[in-house]
Amino acid sequence: MKVLGIESSCDECAAAVVEDGKIIRSNVVATQIPFHEVYNGVVPEIASRMHTEWISGVVKTALSDAGCKPGDIDAVAATTQPGLLGSLLVGLSFAKAFAYSLDKPFIAIDHMLAHLYAPMLSENVDYPFLGLLVSGGHSIICRVDDFDAITVLGTTIDDAVGEAFDKVSKFYGFGYPGGVHIDRLAKNGDSNAFKFPLPNLYKGEHRYDVSYSGLKTAVINQIEQFRQTDAQGNPVALSPENIAASFQKTAIDILLRSLFRAIEDTGLTTIVAGGGVAANSYLRQCLAERKDIRCLFPPLNLCGDNGAMVAGLGYKYLARGDRSPWTVTASARVKA
Ligand code: KG4
Ligand code: ZN
Repeated sequence: MKVLGIESSCDECAAAVVEDGKIIRSNVVATQIPFHEVYNGVVPEIASRMHTEWISGVVKTALSDAGCKPGDIDAVAATTQPGLLGSLLVGLSFAKAFAYSLDKPFIAIDHMLAHLYAPMLSENVDYPFLGLLVSGGHSIICRVDDFDAITVLGTTIDDAVGEAFDKVSKFYGFGYPGGVHIDRLAKNGDSNAFKFPLPNLYKGEHRYDVSYSGLKTAVINQIEQFRQTDAQGNPVALSPENIAASFQKTAIDILLRSLFRAIEDTGLTTIVAGGGVAANSYLRQCLAERKDIRCLFPPLNLCGDNGAMVAGLGYKYLARGDRSPWTVTASARVKA
């Protein structure tokens, strides 16, 4: 069965055709990054207007890349939550209208569940496992019992991890969005050049939570102090590479501390990672070094927002006989 997946929750206008939840027939991602770059962040009004202009061309290209006519599609899936409301509404309205006109089922998709499905486009994983959902808007450690059943164990109490990468990068002018620039700079930096404090919240209800506002403040405000001396009392050159590497190490170590606690406590040793920050090379390297766990990452082109993960997850609902009502609407936050 072929599912058309549409994703428009943020600044990527994306559509894909996936067969039987596994075979990617096409995957078109039209990024708006150059249009938001000048503002150093996504401007919601610009994002929704651009989705409106682009959506029909993106879907048309996804269909033609897959060698499909509209009638060859068995169902249409679209992201309906969470995300920017105006942007979500564009993809959702287009998807519902497209499905309705073809008399095909429409399937509403949760963006975070779709990110978790991305590695499963190419790998088979048995439930339950631990999910690590890390993006510009989320930092979630969860127990995953099925494709539509997750229990959040920990989350951020302030900024998301990707947001911290973006804010630090913005402050130092490394580029937008920040993650990919910091990751690249960090490869030639000394991750021990600056020592940043880890948040102290791993007790009781916050056992698996993370926090990034303290790190962000330390990197931005305290770095001048660090410039004076290193651990040995020698002057430290304030190189972009060293700032990037030291920040990245701490940001990822914060995540890993909570994740490793969850692994110990639950006994679950399979981890599935998703979201833009799952592209991070230091995160991948640290998890690859733990030989006692199996960690699945999506390929780099499926870490960020894309339609293939939406179509793939849509197939799972379709195969179970589910379809969403035409009355379904978008939600900026996760609704149960
Ligand atoms: O999943 P995504 O494309 O959009 C959201 O749903 O947020 O994630 C985008 C986020 C941005 O914050 C970006 O800086 C971050 O993912 N990111 C990275 C890397 N590539 C993208 N963060 C760290 N390292 C990377 N290599
Ligand atoms: Zn995302």
